[in-house]
Amino acid sequence: MKLEGKKILVTGGTRGIGAALVSQLRAKGCRVLVVARDEARLAVLERQGVATLAADLADPDMPRAVARWVAAEHPDCDVLINNAAIMDHTFLTRDPLAKLDRIDREIRINLTAPLQLTAALLPVLSARPKAAVVNVTSGLALAPLPNAAVYCATKAGVRMFTKALRHQITAERWTIQLSEVLMTRVDTTLSEGDPEGKYPPERAAVDLNSWG
Ligand SMILES: NC(=O)c1ccc[n+]([C@@H]2O[C@H](COP(=O)([O-])OP(=O)(O)OC[C@H]3O[C@@H](n4cnc5c(N)ncnc54)[C@H](OP(=O)(O)O)[C@@H]3O)[C@@H](O)[C@H]2O)c1
Repeated sequence: MKLEGKKILVTGGTRGIGAALVSQLRAKGCRVLVVARDEARLAVLERQGVATLAADLADPDMPRAVARWVAAEHPDCDVLINNAAIMDHTFLTRDPLAKLDRIDREIRINLTAPLQLTAALLPVLSARPKAAVVNVTSGLALAPLPNAAVYCATKAGVRMFTKALRHQITAERWTIQLSEVLMTRVDTTLSEGDPEGKYPPERAAVDLNSWG
C-alpha cells in the first residue's frame, strides 16, 4: 500500500515510536491525525498541521468518541495505527489486591481501546478504496516478561484479534489490509532499563511505516 497522500490516524503519536512515526508519515506527504492525552504536545502537532484529539483511551467512552470524531470530521481516513500502550512493570504476587485497578487500566488502553477503535472505524475504512489497520504488538506477545504479565497478555490478545478479524474482513471482500507489527525493544519511556541493545524510536518507526 502506498502511503503518500493517505490520511492516517495514529494513537499515541505524542512520544516515542508514535511521535517518530508521525513525523516520518508527514515527510511522506501523509495527512496525519493523532489521538493521545498530552495537550502541550498535541498543540505543537496542531501547529504543524496535524489534526489532534485529546483523549484518554482508558476511558471506556473514548473509542466511540474517537470514531465519531473521525466519521464526522475525517471520513476520508484511510489507515488506523493502533500504537498507544502502557507497560506496568509489576509483580502481581506482591500486594495483588491493590493492583486490580492497574490491571483494568492496562487492559483498557492496550486491548479494549484498539479492538473497539478498530471495530468502530470499520464503517469508515470499508468505504475507502484501499484502507488498512495496523496493530502494534510486541515480542512479548510471544515470549513472556515476568514483571509485565498483563502487558504480555494484552499484546497476545491484540495479535490474535488481528488474525481472527482478518478472516472476517476477507469474507466481506473489503479492501482493508489488517496488519500486525511485532515490535522489538525500543528506547522509549515505555521500556524500562538500560538503552543498550534497544532500537532508537526513529528506526522502529521506519519499520512501522513500511508494513505491507
Ligand atoms: N518501547 C518498546 O520497547 C516496545 C517494544 C515492543 C512494542 N512496543 C509498542 O510500541 C508502541 C509504542 O510504544 P512506545 O515505546 O513508543 O511508548 P511511549 O514512548 O511510552 O509512548 C506511548 C504513547 O501512547 C500514548 N498513551 C499512553 N497512554 C495513553 C492513554 N491512556 N490514552 C491515550 N494515549 C496514551 C502516549 O501519549 P500521551 O502520554 O500523550 O497520552 C504516547 O504517545 C506500543 O504499542 C508498545 O506496546 C514498544
